[in-house]
Amino acid sequence: MEYDILYGASSAAAQIEGGDLRHNWNDWADKGRIKDGSSPRRACDHFHRWREDIDLMAGMGIRIYRMSVEWARIEPARGAYDAAAVAWYRELLQYLKSKGIAPLVTLHHFTHPIWFEEMGGFADPANIPVFLGFVRYAVQSFGDLVDEYVTLNEPNVFAAKGYMEGVFPPGKNSIPLAMKVQAVMASCHILAYELIHKLRREMGYANTKVGFAHHVRVFAPKSKWNPWHRLCSRLTARLFQGALTRACLLGRFIFPFKNYANPLCAGAYADFLGLNYYSRSTISGLADGVRRDSPKNDLGWEIFPEGIAVCAREIYALLPRPIYITENGTADNTDAFRCRCIYDHLQALKNSGLPVERYYHWCFTDNFEWAEGEVPRFGLVYIDYNTQKRALKKSGRFYAALIKNKGVTEAMYTEYVAPEQYHS
Ligand code: FCB
Repeated sequence: MEYDILYGASSAAAQIEGGDLRHNWNDWADKGRIKDGSSPRRACDHFHRWREDIDLMAGMGIRIYRMSVEWARIEPARGAYDAAAVAWYRELLQYLKSKGIAPLVTLHHFTHPIWFEEMGGFADPANIPVFLGFVRYAVQSFGDLVDEYVTLNEPNVFAAKGYMEGVFPPGKNSIPLAMKVQAVMASCHILAYELIHKLRREMGYANTKVGFAHHVRVFAPKSKWNPWHRLCSRLTARLFQGALTRACLLGRFIFPFKNYANPLCAGAYADFLGLNYYSRSTISGLADGVRRDSPKNDLGWEIFPEGIAVCAREIYALLPRPIYITENGTADNTDAFRCRCIYDHLQALKNSGLPVERYYHWCFTDNFEWAEGEVPRFGLVYIDYNTQKRALKKSGRFYAALIKNKGVTEAMYTEYVAPEQYHS
């Protein structure tokens, strides 16, 4: 399978850096809300081992890397910025560049300072300027080194898990609140999109790219003959995904969203379509479900490779922009089916004929997987959390070969993909 796109890796600050920061996820861990009792304070100690990680990345031939900056590290108290934190990120970004790796920087990936949480976070539209203040500071601090930005990661997952299911901070259980949070974040995205472009223009740069990382999935009725299943799957798709897509990409706020970004016109607020794709949901009521007989990863998520193209096509029809798969990967604790999973998703993308330009694999290393803790392993690189030793997995070798060969050769297929099977 020849497929000549850019292949890179993805990560997020709180999931790899480690450190005793005052952010919502360290706090959540302190409240005993992580399944295996771990905490992002440890993670992969990337804060001290970043050079080793970047060297590994460069060794694999990776030339594009999606990472995030930690708001709580940069602005530990409101309006008080930490120069050492900025210097640390600058050194890391410069090192990436020296290795020929272009960073795509996410400004908010699920974590923010406790002081922001205590003000109501994204549940309060009055806080939109506070987030924009951080965006401004980050772009002023890193804008000479970073051309490409993701404003927000997965507002729908952030809102659903934190404000509806209550399994992410702040642990609320309200559907209307979850909708409000998504709408506030959509407004943040649009205003940040404009702001980043404006700041970079003022700095004299013309090549800025801004988007957001949208969590997309296929919603399928459990029985396509059952009208209730069909209705619920349409409703879930709209509340979880469709309304947010339209608000963020087009500035169109449809029910139940309110537009908090006034004054604002309908327009186009993405230079690329950032898509995070993992799975399909099988719907038979007002909750998520998984088909019993389907292949699943180690977290029980269905592996449904065709879905990546289904979602990409749907979004591309709304706004034709280059597609960046900002995340795709799988929880595979023994590295038993990751190569097959990568292959099948790439094959689906290739077959779609859509203008996919980049694929960022989630994740570069094993990492702290939010409420699930350290148990699920998504990395191309294995982390021994006790010794912090890194080791390239078989799938990491496969990925390096994929980059080198611009696709999967027959020999690679035979060696890596053919022997692997999914389990259900
Ligand atoms: C996505 C998140 C990412 C990671 C993967 C497995 O929802 O954006 O941080 O946890 O899932």
